[in-house]
Amino acid sequence: MAKRALITVLVALVVLGGAVVLAHGDGDPTHGAALYAENCLACHGPDGQGRGTHEAFSAAIQYDSGFEAVVARGVAGSRYMFAWGQEYGGPLSAEDILDLRAYVQTWQEGAPEPLPVAEESTEPGAALYAANCAACHGPQGQGRSLAGFPAIGQYADVLAVARRGMPNSAMPPFAEAYGGPLSEADLSAIAAYSRSWERPAPMIVAAENSPQGAGMLILLIGLGSIGIVGLWALTAKPSD
Ligand code: HEC
Ligand code: HEC
Repeated sequence: MAKRALITVLVALVVLGGAVVLAHGDGDPTHGAALYAENCLACHGPDGQGRGTHEAFSAAIQYDSGFEAVVARGVAGSRYMFAWGQEYGGPLSAEDILDLRAYVQTWQEGAPEPLPVAEESTEPGAALYAANCAACHGPQGQGRSLAGFPAIGQYADVLAVARRGMPNSAMPPFAEAYGGPLSEADLSAIAAYSRSWERPAPMIVAAENSPQGAGMLILLIGLGSIGIVGLWALTAKPSD
């Protein structure tokens, strides 16, 4: 009886090991491109070379073996390159970060995976907002609770804040005059677009990070193994 349970546990552990190996495979560059557009494009630009002279926008991404660790933990002392990994309070899973690496690698290989095309919108500021602000403030200014980014307040002077940024925070200045990537016309379009949102908008919470695919499988197998061990311990007691 106990022997059979032990075998079951061993089988579960082997399957679990397999799932972990699967989860740490090569990464999906197409998903990586979507994640890049959503989270990294605003500062690092479409080719990872940066897009302005201000420190928030001037960093180029090099692909090397340290990529995953830098993205997960952020750069110590940097106000702008914060931790993106879930284990450090960010929004991205370990799998997401591998997908990002697979995408960034396509630059090195000289055949970049195309970035997803933004949805058509009739509002001129919508695409600009999506490319520059949504990474931190969510698709409609709701904020992103996991990364600690605030909602864009109903009464905020969006134009002035976006132009100059906010001191001692991760809110970078976007105006060309301050080393950012956007013209006055772009900034005005974004500010106008932000006035079209319904208020108050609900904040995006953990739903955007629900475990998917292999992560979910590992979780289920892990829970299953614990159950089996528990059962084994219970049934083993009287006979010993
Ligand atoms: C708010 C702007 C901003 C965003 C958004 C951002 N970064 Fe960065 N990133 C920076 C800055 C600034 C640095 C340089 C930090 C330093 O060295 O002081 C940096 C550094 C890095 C580095 C290390 C540079 C090197 O030597 O290769 C990597 C890798 C990187 N970022 C990847 C990413 C990825 C992937 C994302 C999206 C998940 C992302 N960054 C999002 C601003 C940003
Ligand atoms: C790298 C992340 C990041 C990006 C990208 C970003 N912001 Fe912010 N933003 C922040 C943070 C963090 C704060 C809060 C700063 C503080 O309170 O100290 C903030 C604050 C703001 C505020 C003030 C919120 C309020 O209601 O008081 C506005 C308005 C704002 N951002 C607009 C924008 C716009 C418009 C863009 C795009 C052009 C943008 N942000 C891009 C991180 C970001």
